[in-house]
Amino acid sequence: MGKDIKNICCIGAGYVGGPTMAVIALKNPQIQVNIVDINEQRITDWNDTDLDKLPIYEPGLKEVVEETRNKNLFFSTDVDTAIDNADMIFISVNTPTKTYGKGKGQAADLKYIELCARQIARVSKTDKIVVEKSTLPVRTAEALQGILSSTGNGVKFEILSNPEFLAEGTAIDDLLIPDRVLIGGNNTVSGKEAKNALSSIYEAWIPKERVLQTNVWSSELSKLTANAFLAQRISSINAMSVLCEETEADVDEIARAIGMDSRIGPKFLKSSVGFGGSCFQKDVLNLVYIAKSYGLDEVAEYWDQVIKLNDYQKRRFADKIIKESYNTVSGKKIAFFGWAFKKDTNDTRESAAIYVADHLLDEQADIIVYDPKVSEERIYADLEYLNTHSSEEIRNRVKVVSSHSEAVNNAHAIAILTEWDEFKAYNWKEIYSKVLKPANVFDGRNILDKEKLVNVGFNVYNIGK
Ligand code: NAD
Ligand code: UGA
Repeated sequence: MGKDIKNICCIGAGYVGGPTMAVIALKNPQIQVNIVDINEQRITDWNDTDLDKLPIYEPGLKEVVEETRNKNLFFSTDVDTAIDNADMIFISVNTPTKTYGKGKGQAADLKYIELCARQIARVSKTDKIVVEKSTLPVRTAEALQGILSSTGNGVKFEILSNPEFLAEGTAIDDLLIPDRVLIGGNNTVSGKEAKNALSSIYEAWIPKERVLQTNVWSSELSKLTANAFLAQRISSINAMSVLCEETEADVDEIARAIGMDSRIGPKFLKSSVGFGGSCFQKDVLNLVYIAKSYGLDEVAEYWDQVIKLNDYQKRRFADKIIKESYNTVSGKKIAFFGWAFKKDTNDTRESAAIYVADHLLDEQADIIVYDPKVSEERIYADLEYLNTHSSEEIRNRVKVVSSHSEAVNNAHAIAILTEWDEFKAYNWKEIYSKVLKPANVFDGRNILDKEKLVNVGFNVYNIGK
């Protein structure tokens, strides 16, 4: 297995594969990086000469793509050729929660991973390092090894786990200055060689001491652990937000007070309408499933509570809107500011907005959505995917507009679902003149200047205040 990597293939041109490989290509101009995907539209979009049409919106991404694309970074649907030419193959495909069969609603669906492994096994003619970039259950590398070594054609595969810790909206910064890079692999001679080969790619721009090497199982399980701890922190502060609302304590003041304890730290203590995103729920549920499969019911229940609290928080927000609207939102216009699961991304997967809207639709509300980066079709697709309301009802009741001022005309209430910076800078006096009175704002992100809005005439409802 050559230490000197000249050609990389990444299977999966998504939120992780695209930005991660673009940065690897930027920092390793001597390596050719080929990103491949079966989704033709996605590849077409990655190749679009108009960089504003890239399939993913991330601050700083288009500049990196502009500098590398068609020099040493290539996007293609020709998976076989990219595998064949590669010294190192990253698997960065989606690993969603299973929607069928055993483990439905909890376990990770590994069918896309398995398909990749079978394709790599079928196509490869030379030895390769195969890198798990996707988030996977602990001991997946064992299954991959089983598939890859079943070909009997003499090709050797070394499997590494290299989970990704980037967060959307800050992906490029996270990749350029990561807290750490984690590389797990076998402690055999060839395993160590493979780990060093991957380490040297990252060490092109990351200090050596931040590149950690572990055994493969620790690496796989560290990724699930990191996401579980992060999600747990949000559920913990959100649990306190409920208590704050009962006791006149202020959750932001509490976050500040506890965050100054260096053992707790100030980050990730922002109470909200609930966490979203493609991974926290999926990964915690997967952890719950893994614990259960080892018969560890207490461990499973402990982590399951993180998800239950998050569901409760989303539901509570919708209930608050209903309660403060004289217990009915039927036929009332509720303006949604934001649909993405967090600011600075166009990703809406598992966004709290979807579930709040769904609950309000149960109560026959009319919803007007404005999000600076999310398309109308995406919003309809998110609601239709839940299968709780007909497509016709969704399209009748939910309208998507292209400016915040359109959204607020004659609205009975405004709900902040995403913490986009622009919401803070709006002319709230002008908004006040357009909405119905009493003018209610439900700030699901605690981002607005409450005093200012109250002076304008709004009733402002926060989380945990
Ligand atoms: P994604 O859905 O955006 O991208 C996955 C891509 O893989 C899709 O474009 C899909 O078409 C492609 N694909 C699936 N099967 C394929 C196959 N057999 N051949 C070729 N292409 C195939 O997913 P993502 O958000 O990039 O996440 C990928 C993995 O990374 C997941 O395991 C996720 O848990 C993990 N992860 C995601 C993030 C994040 O912020 N999104 C961060 C860290 C880790
Ligand atoms: C998260 C992790 O932060 C990444 O390290 C990890 O790589 C990634 O999941 C993954 O595995 O996919 P991401 O989901 O992109 O990243 O974004 P976060 O910044 O973690 O936010 C997740 C959700 O939590 C968002 O809805 C956000 O609004 C919410 N959040 C975050 C809060 O409600 N409060 C906080 O204090 C922080």
